[in-house]
Amino acid sequence: MKVAVLGAAGGIGQALALLLKNRLPAGSELSLYDIAPVTPGVAADLSHIPTDVKVKGFCGEDPSPALVGADVVLISAGVARKPGMDRSDLFNINAGIVKNLVEKCAASCPKALIGIITNPVNTTVAIAAEVLKKAGVYDKRRLFGVTTLDVIRGETFVAEAKGLNVDKIRVNVIGGHSGVTILPLLSQIEGASFTAEEAAAMTKRIQNAGTEVVEAKAGGGSATLSMGQAACRFGLSLIKGLQGEANVIECAYVEGNGEHATFFAQPILLGKNGVETVLDYGKLSAFEQESMNSMLATLKADIQLGVDFVK
Ligand code: NAD
Ligand code: LMR
Repeated sequence: MKVAVLGAAGGIGQALALLLKNRLPAGSELSLYDIAPVTPGVAADLSHIPTDVKVKGFCGEDPSPALVGADVVLISAGVARKPGMDRSDLFNINAGIVKNLVEKCAASCPKALIGIITNPVNTTVAIAAEVLKKAGVYDKRRLFGVTTLDVIRGETFVAEAKGLNVDKIRVNVIGGHSGVTILPLLSQIEGASFTAEEAAAMTKRIQNAGTEVVEAKAGGGSATLSMGQAACRFGLSLIKGLQGEANVIECAYVEGNGEHATFFAQPILLGKNGVETVLDYGKLSAFEQESMNSMLATLKADIQLGVDFVK
């Protein structure tokens, strides 16, 4: 398997690359690209770790050499939030970065599974889809917005609050990846029950967790280490699916059946072509149903912004 990380010299990119160097299947290749000239040095540094994963680093304006033959591409290139900003404030810079990088993916590795981490994810995934459509290589099974950080936050916070084993807990998070579009399905967690007040407070905590980190870092960026962990979990799941492992399920922001919006985060079964099946997310509580209904206008507008940007 060849995994390319675009934005590999950044906070997420370096954490993710370190985890992948240690956890990719033996014989894999890790291809690191960033515009920053330090990137070959990051690759040299990682290459001294004794695992059977080859690391190569690329920098400069053209990511193509890093992309040729990639099975999975994880994109975290772009700018991060500072206190007082929303994820949507990143659109002006990050939209163009994602458009350019996905154009290069379309040319160099059109069959790769592409995971978009760069914010605002609700919009950058729509941009990526339009770029791939224009290039004639769009396959909705192969494009993902990485929302795993919302899932691991849900798992961590609920396990802490309810005294559950964090290794066993599973939290589905549906919708999108910003503010009210992040909807954890707390009513479905085995072994945990919430009063109405607890459910509302826990939902808000998960929705605001990104801002919690941005404020704590006080101008030094947003979540990088937990995101590295989340992207590693998601990337390894993509690879397990590609390798034919059964029952690989993750939540991700994908083009599903369009019931709610063109793109929607939901549980998916992964397989040899990416999304094998979009899974039913089950029964919602009244609070979750109301939250879902009221997020949809925001989510649809976020998606339309991305479509219009490319058109
Ligand atoms: P960072 O500033 O530490 O790193 C970004 C990297 O991107 C830098 O190394 C920079 O050189 C590189 N870069 C910029 N333009 C590039 C280009 N055109 N081609 C290649 N590389 C380029 O930022 P970070 O903390 O790693 O965050 C990256 C992005 O991920 C941000 O948009 C952030 O909002 C987003 N993010 C998403 C999630 C999520 O859950 N999906 C979580 C955390 C952060
Ligand atoms: C997060 O959820 O931590 C990321 O989307 C980064 C951010 O800006 O909050």
